[in-house]
Amino acid sequence: MWRGGRTPSEGVERSETGRGAHPTIPATHNRFSITFGRMLQISQRGQVMPPSPIRKLVPYAEAAKKKGIKVFHLNIGQPDIETPPAILDAVRKTDIKVLEYSHSAGNESYRRKIVSYYKRVGINISYDQIIITTGGSEAIMFAFFCCLDPGDEVIIPEPFYANYNGFAVAAGVNVIPITSHIETGFALPPIEDFEKLITPKTKAIVICSPNNPTGYLYKRSEMEALKQICLDHDLYLFSDEAYREFCYDGEYISAMHLQGLEQNVILMDTISKRYSACGARLGAFVTKNKTVYDAAMKFAQARLSPPGLAQIMGEAAVDLPEHYFDGPKAEYMARRNLLVSRLNAMPGVFCPRPGGAFYAIARLPVDDSDKFCQWLLESFSYKDQTVMLAPATGFYGTKGLGKNEVRLAYVLNLQSINAAMDCLENALQSYPQRVQKNYVSDSLLS
Ligand SMILES: Cc1ncc(COP(=O)(O)O)c(C=O)c1O
Repeated sequence: MWRGGRTPSEGVERSETGRGAHPTIPATHNRFSITFGRMLQISQRGQVMPPSPIRKLVPYAEAAKKKGIKVFHLNIGQPDIETPPAILDAVRKTDIKVLEYSHSAGNESYRRKIVSYYKRVGINISYDQIIITTGGSEAIMFAFFCCLDPGDEVIIPEPFYANYNGFAVAAGVNVIPITSHIETGFALPPIEDFEKLITPKTKAIVICSPNNPTGYLYKRSEMEALKQICLDHDLYLFSDEAYREFCYDGEYISAMHLQGLEQNVILMDTISKRYSACGARLGAFVTKNKTVYDAAMKFAQARLSPPGLAQIMGEAAVDLPEHYFDGPKAEYMARRNLLVSRLNAMPGVFCPRPGGAFYAIARLPVDDSDKFCQWLLESFSYKDQTVMLAPATGFYGTKGLGKNEVRLAYVLNLQSINAAMDCLENALQSYPQRVQKNYVSDSLLS
């Protein structure tokens, strides 16, 4: 079970066909599909694979649009910032006769070039410690597949990027959530709480800083605490740094900056958010651990190569001037300030100020954020407009948590954010299931 419980891997049985146990598929499934081939079945894994929790409201948004209502999309992390024209031009200018496979680890020229990008952010690695991947998603998958066996456990501070659940199910791994709380702005839970969750099956901790969905930026002391626990218990630290460029209030600390933890760290990276290039599908799996790297290379070889045109974009991106990020970063910061102040000005709403990324989680005076988000699309409009939010329940591994929280992605311009907040403010006033309760004191808002 991916909701903090056990995966199907717990149900390992020996098949009556005598073909041995598959670690993730119960014997009953093997029996029907392998011996007789009479019934086409969906694998156990396919059945328990979770659908994207942030896309389930899409039909309601489509129906609202058909009714002529404008929907402000604060529900998904699709940035609206223009992709740098120079990186698109680099592809336009190529004179390719045959679009070949690249090296499975990615073009050497790109890997050598991206070393200089990493150097700029204080990460010292060499080109042969990098595997270019199809988005950050594939880097996450490689990390799970290379380092974890079916039945192993990974500890992940919740709320977390919901797709980790999917990767865990694909790898037969159990996600053990550790709760971070809105009252502390989603700071890292106390390290003693991690200690309590560690079992002989625990093999890794997954972190994401700055964080999706909370926007929390881990402090140096928190990163050092994670380092110590990984060293003490021989755990991998999978570090998802998709939002590295967008740190507003604090210092960016990469897991790769942690001295003495080099062999434990796997950096899972992507250009999707960095250059507003989600469609390029370009990421990186980075590790100084040679054994892990060699294992990951076998997965990389099995899928042949990362995308060719995207690597041309990636090389051009390294050549962008360093001040390129100043514009997008200032824009996101202004949006964050507006969003957070508008939210906290609404009666009964609390939103801690996130230190990075382009997400915030807010607690609303509602009984059930899934129902409220659906109601916003189905039954509400203000000046023929409404807002689409992501219910936070999908980001928690522990059932029942996040019921009065939503995630907001500030991927719209300031004017649209203002209009979206007008909608939300009005919606909360007229929502029939509004809860009359103030959850936090003003002192927590600073
Ligand atoms: C935290 C985090 N990691 C990884 C990804 C996946 O990125 P990619 O588009 O590069 O596959 C996302 C995408 O939203 C993300 O938010």
